[in-house]
Amino acid sequence: MILSSVNQQSIDQAAALLRAGGLVAFPTETVYGLGADAANPDAVSKIFAAKGRPVDHPVIVHLGNIDQLDAWAADVPEAARRLAAAFWPGPLTIILNKHAGVPAAVTGGQNTVALRIPANPVALQLLQAFGGGVAAPSANRFGRISPTQACHVAEELGDEVGMILDGGPCTVGVESTIIDLTDEHPAILRPGRITRSQLKAVLQTDVRLSSQTKIRAPGMMAVHYAPNTMALLCATETLIAMIDEQCALGKQIGVLAYSAALNFIPCQHLIHLPEQAELYEPALYSALRELDNLELDMILIEQPPDNEAWAAVTDRLGKATV
Ligand code: TXA
Ligand code: MG
Repeated sequence: MILSSVNQQSIDQAAALLRAGGLVAFPTETVYGLGADAANPDAVSKIFAAKGRPVDHPVIVHLGNIDQLDAWAADVPEAARRLAAAFWPGPLTIILNKHAGVPAAVTGGQNTVALRIPANPVALQLLQAFGGGVAAPSANRFGRISPTQACHVAEELGDEVGMILDGGPCTVGVESTIIDLTDEHPAILRPGRITRSQLKAVLQTDVRLSSQTKIRAPGMMAVHYAPNTMALLCATETLIAMIDEQCALGKQIGVLAYSAALNFIPCQHLIHLPEQAELYEPALYSALRELDNLELDMILIEQPPDNEAWAAVTDRLGKATV
């Protein structure tokens, strides 16, 4: 594995590796992706092997240019073009009917495809140098915490990837919002930085929160993104009592909090993040990794506020905790 800083040479080398059917981990604004040539089923199958991910789970195809949309999707609705114009490049993934040529390895055998143009400049440079679609899930082992720094990928998948492009820490830090436009009503399959209100404002129609039971997105499984350490969500008011209770039992506790009231609590392993969702999100996954690596008995996580700005955090923490 080569952990490479970003320059024209490493971008060209990464694009060549993709063309040769290899795996390249690269930064996006959300999380690091584990990329392969989306038009090459053998290359895509290496992603599943590296992650230990079930093969029927579809992956997002990343594009470098809006002109590629109709090469990957069929019957593209006006709504998709409006969303693309408003939010691409950016942290929004759009599910559309797939173009006939899209390999089944990418779609998990479904007749839909997930598409996104990421905003991270390194991702865009790589996608444009490569020229085709890049299939990329988050660059973590299946069920583990998504990587927001190149070192996270190196730790977890270093032996599996040909190259890791180090573009520094991800600025958004939680995975893209996924919106499904293949049904009569648009539906959010996974909340992210682009909010339901923002989507509604552009589409001028209601956007549902998906309650479908059939798993179309592995991110929708109840347990996902989980640390190894047992993690519990706690209301702000009960957190201190909970710490006292666990410490009295002799337990080693880690705490992830954001309220000013919890800034100076007596806990050796406290990570205090900003009380603003857009600043909390970029730090969330590395904080969880850091606490997880301490091999404590339990991680107590302050329950996020109940409002739209925190929807992505609420979703991810719900999946990381018991
Ligand atoms: O921010 C992101 O979306 C990151 C970066 C790398 O772009 N990618 C990411 O990929 O989170 P992954 O594979 O970890 O999650 C992608 C989600 C999965 O839940 C997958 O099932 C869903 O997208 N997905 C992909 N194709 C789909 C399809 N055709 N229908 C429904 N869901 C789909
Ligand atoms: Mg993932």
